[in-house]
Amino acid sequence: MSNFIFAGCDTVKLAEKYKTPLYVMSEDYIKERLKEIKKDFLEKHEKTMAVYASKAFLTKEMARIVKESGIGMDVVSGGELYTAIQVDFPMEKIIFHGNNKTIDELELAIENNVGRIVVDHLEEIDMIEEIGKKYNRKVHILFRISPGIDSHTHKYIQTGQVDSKFGIPLEEKSIKSAMEKVLKLKFTELVGFHFHIGSQISDNENHIKAIRIMAQLIKKVKDDYGFIVKELNTGGGYGIHYSENEERKPLAYFTDSIIKEIEERCKEYGLERPLVIIEPGRWVVGEAGITIYTIGAIKEIPGIRTYVSVDGGMPDNPRPSLYEAKYEAVVINKLDKEPTDLVTIAGKCCESGDILIWDLKVPTLETGDKLAVLSTGAYNYSMSSNYNRIPRPAVVMISEGKDRLIVKRETYDDILRNDI
Ligand SMILES: Cc1ncc(COP(=O)(O)O)c(C=O)c1O
Repeated sequence: MSNFIFAGCDTVKLAEKYKTPLYVMSEDYIKERLKEIKKDFLEKHEKTMAVYASKAFLTKEMARIVKESGIGMDVVSGGELYTAIQVDFPMEKIIFHGNNKTIDELELAIENNVGRIVVDHLEEIDMIEEIGKKYNRKVHILFRISPGIDSHTHKYIQTGQVDSKFGIPLEEKSIKSAMEKVLKLKFTELVGFHFHIGSQISDNENHIKAIRIMAQLIKKVKDDYGFIVKELNTGGGYGIHYSENEERKPLAYFTDSIIKEIEERCKEYGLERPLVIIEPGRWVVGEAGITIYTIGAIKEIPGIRTYVSVDGGMPDNPRPSLYEAKYEAVVINKLDKEPTDLVTIAGKCCESGDILIWDLKVPTLETGDKLAVLSTGAYNYSMSSNYNRIPRPAVVMISEGKDRLIVKRETYDDILRNDI
């Protein structure tokens, strides 16, 4: 009987050692992607900066891996920032995002001297100015702009369209108020603009469209206010392989065209080319992770479908129920058996929508078989919950064929920890 090998490890043995459900991450894979960012973006193009979007997957160990690579990190909450602080992540390489940062989160960021804060709305500038004054510190900010681009991705992971909760709309009055406000401030220094058009994007068309729009804005603020944009943050969003028809493209597919477009537009408008920042998250960790489950109840509804339930589901992977995300999976202890049956993989939650995969081809299954859902490295652990008071799985990191625990499995007592 042959078992599924992931990152050089026998996954059935991992399931036996750590129990299921279990998140397994490949450090080698993550390091490969981080290396690709260095080689094909940072070293290839001058005046560039890359930050890993930590919302995709963050633990202290992940923050250490990113720190060691020399790449920066984008955080979007006090909790993500606090994780970075705990591993002495270089604060000048942190970019702090969020459409509703609290005053406490902003204070944590400014007190710790984060490199840049991406301002999402005008009231935020007042809070930043006040805290900057308190710490007598110049705070570098970028304005997040929603450039009015509808990317071809699920509407819950589109972010750059005009009707969006993110960013300052690219519209005359809003830009004028933002510019007039910020240019008067003493402790807040605008260094540039940011946009992020969405996630799991498979081509570079919309990044290019967004850059054309942003270049016009850069020219306009130069003409109207004499303001020189020093930095343009182009966000993340590069897609990965989840299921057929989806593939992870090399980073350069996106970034070469981003740089080329910015250079051409700067030449056309007589602008100096700003520092270009990228923020990939999913592309770095998505395919680095799998989730291993044990199969429990198998229920055949004659002539309709067979539901195969696993010991996890929407609490460890909310993406299928949240935005109909598609996944592939393998029965890890039956790799040599022909896939003969069509089944639906259901989670164990008290929700009809808790389905991980509709219509998966599998060998004949028995209770106790083990299933690995693939490409679960991004937005799974980081989006997990305790719904139905189910403890979160452990996270195991594999490096050069060796496994180590990086997050312990939660216990029932962990769930009760804050109950009074
Ligand atoms: C501002 C910003 N930057 C970067 C990312 C990372 O996106 P992805 O994981 O698709 O690369 C996101 C995702 O939501 C984002 O909102």
